[in-house]
Amino acid sequence: MSMLSQKTFCLYTYGCQMNEHDSERIAGMLESHGAVQVSSVEQAEIAIFVTCCIREAADVRLMGQVASIKNIPLPQGSELSKRIVCIGGCIGQRDAEKLPEALPHVDVVFGTQNIEHLVSLIEAAIIQGGHQVEVLDSSTSFSTELPSKRVHPWSAWLPVTVGCNNFCTYCIVPYVRGRERSRTLEDVVEEARGLVADGVKEITLLGQNVNSYGRDLYGEPRFADVLRGVAETGVERLRFATSHPKDLTREVIELYGSLGNLMPSLHLPVQSGSDAILKAMNRRYTAEHYLGLIEEVRKVNPDISFSTDIIVGFPGETEEDFQATYDLVERVGYSQVFTFIYSRREGTPAASMQDDTPHEVIQRRFDSLVDLVQENAFAQNQRFVGRTVDVLVEGASKRDERVLAGHSPHNITVHAPLPEGVRIDDIVGTVVPVRIDEAKAWYLSGAMLRD
Ligand code: SAH
Ligand code: SF4
Ligand code: F3S
Repeated sequence: MSMLSQKTFCLYTYGCQMNEHDSERIAGMLESHGAVQVSSVEQAEIAIFVTCCIREAADVRLMGQVASIKNIPLPQGSELSKRIVCIGGCIGQRDAEKLPEALPHVDVVFGTQNIEHLVSLIEAAIIQGGHQVEVLDSSTSFSTELPSKRVHPWSAWLPVTVGCNNFCTYCIVPYVRGRERSRTLEDVVEEARGLVADGVKEITLLGQNVNSYGRDLYGEPRFADVLRGVAETGVERLRFATSHPKDLTREVIELYGSLGNLMPSLHLPVQSGSDAILKAMNRRYTAEHYLGLIEEVRKVNPDISFSTDIIVGFPGETEEDFQATYDLVERVGYSQVFTFIYSRREGTPAASMQDDTPHEVIQRRFDSLVDLVQENAFAQNQRFVGRTVDVLVEGASKRDERVLAGHSPHNITVHAPLPEGVRIDDIVGTVVPVRIDEAKAWYLSGAMLRD
């Protein structure tokens, strides 16, 4: 019997979908050893933090959170002498040496490349005590091969690549996730088949830059083949994240016109609308190239919704540079924009670039962009009023348990009151038609139709 049998654990996940995926594998692996997941640290004998260091705020918060659980007693009846505290993910990878000193009550530090060793590290911490630290530079396996416990049984993350080779000058990801590695086409499609057989309705293909999928294995990018192969499994909804504009091909764009289950939304991070800033960021495309891609996609399907990521206040950003970003956002008309204030990350090339724009100026730019984004989203969403959209139901709305919440094919949140006699448990994880009556900036609402 495993030493983890009947031990309780809780899992805190921060950062991107890659971490969400990894956490589902960690939960699956621990449960396959008999451990039991609980929702609060008070009930947990083992606390696991899957961390993110993309921006400074996340880093600082994590340290506080880990420190704050130090004095919470173990649950009653535990046979352990202390709670086993584990830090993994990107901070684990980056700070392996520093963490045990900074947070002495941490027992296990693991990284992004050795999730499959977590069980033995926890066992060693229980038997031997001390700090069990293991971080590897690279790995030959993929965490997706471990057992999974999906947060939503009907929706699955499916990594096609791990790591990143792009080295955008502001970004820490290549340093904490290693070089890009693709899984074989056969592996990806086989996993997708298994997921569909398991009742999964929505698959999101994952990679820091899915468009370069296959370059390491096949000598050329083959993301279009992945899309076709996974679409053929018959999965109801197919999505992917993230696309790098420098590698998005015509072949992939055309699939928006031919694959019925490829959802009509595209997340295409632009980061900035200024060519000078894009160059300093090492993004390797121009604003004009980016706008050309948006136009090409719209030619294939004029109804696609776009989302993007933007960094405000990159070192050296002038008022004109910012204006170029603002203009680009206005021209594209995004449904959603994730806006970030530049955060200096030690060890990246941008960290040593001259950065003297006052914080108030950056904040003003950021606020004006956020206002524009909201106006755009509101305007974009109006086109759905009067339409009936298919909604994959995720559960009851947080504010009202008689209201269902889910996502439309365009990846927009939809709310609708539950019709008389319908319980949320009956429809969760299924796709229902909703006639849209009202569109706000961040969600649509309407009436669920019965067929
Ligand atoms: N691989 C993905 C994104 C990964 S990180 C891609 O290239 O699209 C998600 C987003 O965080 C990035 O798109 C970027 O907008 C933002 N980001 C990354 N590093 C940042 C930093 N140092 N400061 C502020 N935002 C950052
Ligand atoms: Fe970071 Fe750029 Fe890689 Fe995205 S593509 S993870 S922004 S280095
Ligand atoms: Fe954060 Fe690591 Fe993802 S730094 S954004 S969790 S790859």
